[in-house]
Amino acid sequence: MNHLDPQRHVRGESQYLDDVPVQQGTLYAAVYESPLAHGVLKGLDLGAARRAPGVVRILTAADVPGRNQIGGIVPDEPLLAEGHVHFQGQPVALVLARTERQAHAALKLIAADIAPLPIITDPREAAALGELIVPPRTHRIGDSGAAFAGCAHVFEGVAETGGQEHLYIETQGAYAFPTELGGVKIISSTQGPTAVQRHAAVVLGVGMHQVEVDVTRLGGGFGGKEDQATPWGCLAALGAFLTKKPVKLVLDRMADMRMTGKRHPYSSDFKIGLSKDLKIIAYEVTYFQNAGAAADLSPAVLERTLFHTTNAYFIPNVTATAHSCRTNLPPNTAFRGFGGPQGMFVIEAAITKAAEELGVLPSEIQRRNLLREGDRFPYRQPAEMCHAEQAWDTAAERFGLDKLRTEITEFNRKNQLFKKGLAVMPICFGISFTKTFMNQTRALVHIYTDGSVGISTGAVEMGQGVNTKIAQVAARTLGISISRIKIETTNTTRVANTSPSAASATADLNGKATELACRALRERLLRQASTEFAVDYEGLTIENEQVLAAGIPAETTWEKLVSSAFLRRVALTENAHYATPGVHFDAGTEQGHPFAYHVYGTALTTATVDCLRGTYTIDAVHIAHDFGQSFSPAIDRGQVEGGAVQGIGWMTLEEISYNEEGKLLSNSLNSYKVPDLYAVPAVLDVHFLDTPGHPKAILRSKAVGEPPLMYGIGAYFALRDAIRAFRPGAALPLVAPMTPERVLGGLYPEALAAHTEETAVAATAAS
Ligand code: MTE
Ligand code: HPA
Ligand code: MOS
Repeated sequence: MNHLDPQRHVRGESQYLDDVPVQQGTLYAAVYESPLAHGVLKGLDLGAARRAPGVVRILTAADVPGRNQIGGIVPDEPLLAEGHVHFQGQPVALVLARTERQAHAALKLIAADIAPLPIITDPREAAALGELIVPPRTHRIGDSGAAFAGCAHVFEGVAETGGQEHLYIETQGAYAFPTELGGVKIISSTQGPTAVQRHAAVVLGVGMHQVEVDVTRLGGGFGGKEDQATPWGCLAALGAFLTKKPVKLVLDRMADMRMTGKRHPYSSDFKIGLSKDLKIIAYEVTYFQNAGAAADLSPAVLERTLFHTTNAYFIPNVTATAHSCRTNLPPNTAFRGFGGPQGMFVIEAAITKAAEELGVLPSEIQRRNLLREGDRFPYRQPAEMCHAEQAWDTAAERFGLDKLRTEITEFNRKNQLFKKGLAVMPICFGISFTKTFMNQTRALVHIYTDGSVGISTGAVEMGQGVNTKIAQVAARTLGISISRIKIETTNTTRVANTSPSAASATADLNGKATELACRALRERLLRQASTEFAVDYEGLTIENEQVLAAGIPAETTWEKLVSSAFLRRVALTENAHYATPGVHFDAGTEQGHPFAYHVYGTALTTATVDCLRGTYTIDAVHIAHDFGQSFSPAIDRGQVEGGAVQGIGWMTLEEISYNEEGKLLSNSLNSYKVPDLYAVPAVLDVHFLDTPGHPKAILRSKAVGEPPLMYGIGAYFALRDAIRAFRPGAALPLVAPMTPERVLGGLYPEALAAHTEETAVAATAAS
């Protein structure tokens, strides 16, 4: 089964927000953003902008009829700045003009009077000042303090990971229309239609029933539109509500990069204790998450970091404490992995540090400590249907781990200026929203009288193929051709109170709801056939659009079945609700069973470093991945490949850079590097592990969206391994991304230090 959309995409037929035909009278919106990262907003000079050509109206916080508040978890985020500004790029005013150009031209005429306040960009500095978004949280199992005393080896260190730009190809935007009863309809590029609806209703001061949100598809989300599509939806809605005209707001790329949050950078302290035979006995970690200026999803991201503290390992004594630190940067947000990758990097860093100090391979420690059936995570859920060892051993055997290592050693012996490195990266990722209540959704299925089928769910298609999967589930369950099925837009009026399409759980949740609805419809139709043809209901099935009685083709086909059911007034619509069973978590004790199941896998990554230039290639990534019983292998393979490359980008090339004033320096694709075709490993080999899947996964096909991103962590450690082949025994900082500059610093630390000093001296002299 191929993804249903790409043919339409490459022909340019797929509709994105910016393709929606523009209605007459539409006003274009542009956002005036704070030029300073922190200060008291004393005044705003809008006079000249108001008189500018084409400008119809300029909105500020004072124009909000409801509450000027869009904080999802913590109410700490105004839609438009009020009293203070907290980051560069924070929306302050909204210009509405007759053309897009006029709206943007008017922005230049606005001046803000801001009295500057001190700017914090570093999470540890924020924590020291008590600037926390929520109180710190600690996950604890065993007694790490006591356990360290019994360890043969104890190592400590600091590990850091950087931010990451989502770089969805379609930038943020929304198009809002006033509706006749004083509400709005918003076409939004959002992963969370209900989030946009809920906040727009608050901002406008109307009931949620007055706000309809509709999403056709996204040109990528990657978590960046889980929460952060909301401001643009609300701003467009505010404009439409107040002017009674359609209002369209689409961010250009650089505005999107400046104004939206990214993956959270983390700085962490770790301490790891091992026994003589390399069993990890104790692990302590303190995370400092750079949350940015408002909570956004940071507390939930922080929680998932804690859940992934031990990655795919069993550690009996763990203390993990996490701080969400308020800084003057755009609020950071969900990004594929949702805090998991940040936590997993630290345990891998700790293991690598221990291995380097002990003179063993990291893989020796890794393999010896993998999770086994029934082992408990620090949050007490046991690893059930655990494939950690199977994934590792399959990858090692199938891709020849020992042979790869021998080849690399041989290569490094023969080559002075190029060095190769290798890393093994096991992953274990929990599937479910960590907030239990979010694990629910609905599917509304209509069978039309001609036998065609329309399906609405809470799922948003963002390239991950969820629409194809839902169509497959319905086709299988009803026994009909996929060509009869249409997946409708995601719309809050048809399916209400949805969770965002996120947490990799979209196909599981919405697929299961679709399966329930389709089963109910199938049963109803077959009961009708049983009566009509006086045959036993038990033996009736539908296959390939043919009704079978005890396996033998009966008198009727799908089309006839549907039409006779309609004539007998049988309901051809079903609305099913699905809530993941068996998930729960007590935030008080920090214990429970938050995940429906876990996804496992292992990647072997090899890299080559040019030791003269500090440049490198990630040569090969060999992956053994636990898909369960995939019913969309083409889509699932694409998710693993895309996720792995996105993870490699995060760990290697992609470097977000702010200066001390909180100004984004990496503000375009000139200065922010993402993997291109040439950065993709020449070998990206994905093996489907033979695993049974899980009953809570849709048709036993496991969730696949986020877990593969964490294979990318292997690229970091493979590069580190190569650098240490050039400079044996090097004590390299555990800081990601491993940009070519950092590689060079690792290869020639003295030269780089001298150079930095020279540059500083030259700069002083010049000034
Ligand atoms: N794949 C594509 N092509 N585009 C995306 O935006 N988002 C990722 C992942 N894969 C994304 C993607 C993220 S962050 C998540 S949570 C999942 O898809 C969401 O979809 P799913 O729940 O259907 O896996
Ligand atoms: N993952 C992704 N998005 C989320 C989650 C989660 O666990 N919780 C809330 N939003
Ligand atoms: Mo994905 S970060 O859960 O949208």
